[in-house]
Amino acid sequence: MPESQDLMDKIVSLCKRRGFVFPGSEIYGGLANSWDYGPLGVELKNNIKQLWWDRFVHRRDDIVGIDAALIMNPKVWEASGHIATFNDPMVECKKCHERYRADQNIKKCEKCGSADFTDAKNFNLMFRTHLGPVENQDNTVYLRPETAQGMFVNFKNILDTTRKTIPFGIAQIGPAFRNEITPGNFIFRTREFEQMEIEYFVKSEEWEKWFEYWLNEQKEWLKEIGISDGSVFVEIPEADRAHYSKKSIDTEFKFPFGQKELYGLAYRTDYDLANHQKMSGQNLEYTDPKTNEKYLPHCIEPTWGVNRTFLAILCSAYREDADRVYLSLPPKLAPFKAAVFPLLANKPQLVEKAREIYSSLVTSHLPLGPIAWDERGNVGKRYYSQDEIGTPFCITVDFDTVEKDNTVTVRNRDTKAQPRVKAEDLENYLRTQVYEE
Ligand code: GAP
Repeated sequence: MPESQDLMDKIVSLCKRRGFVFPGSEIYGGLANSWDYGPLGVELKNNIKQLWWDRFVHRRDDIVGIDAALIMNPKVWEASGHIATFNDPMVECKKCHERYRADQNIKKCEKCGSADFTDAKNFNLMFRTHLGPVENQDNTVYLRPETAQGMFVNFKNILDTTRKTIPFGIAQIGPAFRNEITPGNFIFRTREFEQMEIEYFVKSEEWEKWFEYWLNEQKEWLKEIGISDGSVFVEIPEADRAHYSKKSIDTEFKFPFGQKELYGLAYRTDYDLANHQKMSGQNLEYTDPKTNEKYLPHCIEPTWGVNRTFLAILCSAYREDADRVYLSLPPKLAPFKAAVFPLLANKPQLVEKAREIYSSLVTSHLPLGPIAWDERGNVGKRYYSQDEIGTPFCITVDFDTVEKDNTVTVRNRDTKAQPRVKAEDLENYLRTQVYEE
């Protein structure tokens, strides 16, 4: 695998060239550190989110999902502590006014070379805006900096409507916004991003057991998406922990630009529910249905960044051979599950048969996922093109298909093996290979 910056440049270039990720607002010269997900990027991103939702919501009966508003009552952020404490210390170059995070310990300004900085001052990372046409203090609102608070403020609604009993969790996937002082490293640190979060409510005396449980679940997820090899677990010292956390373990990933935070796991105690109960005046206690005991449960929070997952998957999957570049993506995450080609585009009987196979796959009763169609150039070029975007299987219709035995070649992206499979078995073959292997 190529080294660090070189590898990052190759990934950014592949993302742009093939339609995974484009620079945001590019025709206007871009907008610093904003990125748009293209036709293949949106498929990969949706596949990550769908896999996560299946695993943590659909396949278990102790977690329910929600989709809360992005803009919440500002009292939420007062109660959560974000207005008072969601700050990064920042220093400013006195000469050119470039700003840096104080914890980066910059010695000389990267823009003008000056070593003269202001003292560190706190900068609140929440984006502020106003509700309605008049801008004043009374209608200041914030874009949410974490999805988590949507779960805490709906805790009572979930209890009342689902009758879940402790331990249980609430899950959400959605955007979060932070006015980062120093965004960068492609999609690693941006000012808008997506999170996949679970607030898991437990009895206070059982928090350690559930903390271990969720650490293990995060490890299993890394295996499922094929990135556990590059991942490392780091306990965060008290001084660096978020204001609400009594214990935190980050999953860090060895990105080409260094080992950096990928996911978080925090023991949030009853910090959030207690503060919302106080600020809202609503009783948020849980009543144990067996003992009638009333208490505020404690919360274990595993959190996953969608965009960082996307980047870690691309970094792990990127491969170079003597004659090709390919993405060894887990098939269930790949944007296309397969591609279908007629061996020769100028032979109508091959094109017709290939079209028939393509149609049957894209309209199969149980959806298989997107299938690519390609009849340009020769088969070698089509393999090259599909390898580069991580399509796990390429199906070619040739003369044996139409004249002999109705079989097609199914070429495997990683091994390059090309077994022949009966056309009528193709759907089952792909389903097994993509979703069950
Ligand atoms: N609710 C807890 C919470 O928000 P966090 O560690 O601040 O915890 C969780 O964020 C995850 O969100 C991170 O582990 C990371 O994957 C992702 N994330 C945070 N800030 C980000 C940013 N500026 N750009 C992209 N992803 C980010």
